[in-house]
Amino acid sequence: MRLVVLVSGSGTNLQAVIDGLHLGDAPVEIVAVGADRPCEGLRRAEAAGIGTFLVAPSEHPDRERWNRALEREIVSHRPDRVVFAGFMRIVDAPFVAAFPGRIVNTHPSLLPSFPGAHAVRDALAYGVRITGATVHEVVADVDAGPILAQVAVPVLPDDTEDTLHERIKTAERSLLVEALAELAG
Ligand code: GRF
Repeated sequence: MRLVVLVSGSGTNLQAVIDGLHLGDAPVEIVAVGADRPCEGLRRAEAAGIGTFLVAPSEHPDRERWNRALEREIVSHRPDRVVFAGFMRIVDAPFVAAFPGRIVNTHPSLLPSFPGAHAVRDALAYGVRITGATVHEVVADVDAGPILAQVAVPVLPDDTEDTLHERIKTAERSLLVEALAELAG
């Protein structure tokens, strides 16, 4: 299974996939890592000897052309799956249609609760006692699409957004690795 992984941030989910699946005889190869901005995730890919690409929205005249440029770059690596691992951009419907049923996203809540960019903050503000992480197929609607795997994580009384997000991310990393291993068969 050839993967292109997209990141925007610290890349700890990417690192888990590199460490858990990319080495040895695992039937998974990360053929490239892409990002929308310079970030730690790209540095992790470089350190692991994986090719990288950067497609920044600021270098394209509009959202549509940025989507097409990102799409072209991904297609050139001939992936079986595209993994959004902390990729903090919304792609358009033609992008999703270019990789039908083949884009996987990880999200830090138990979808369909708390979609969007502030899932951890929103769960904390709502006062839920259990939240978690979801790995799902990407469809044109944001944070929707068939669920591939979920894990529950408790919210503790003194949690801040950061402490809760760290607890979620610990569970989320294993979840993503397991879900991709399952997809790889
Ligand atoms: C993850 O919790 C992801 O679901 C969210 O941002 C975080 C990314 O973490 N959208 P990292 O960059 O993989 O460390």
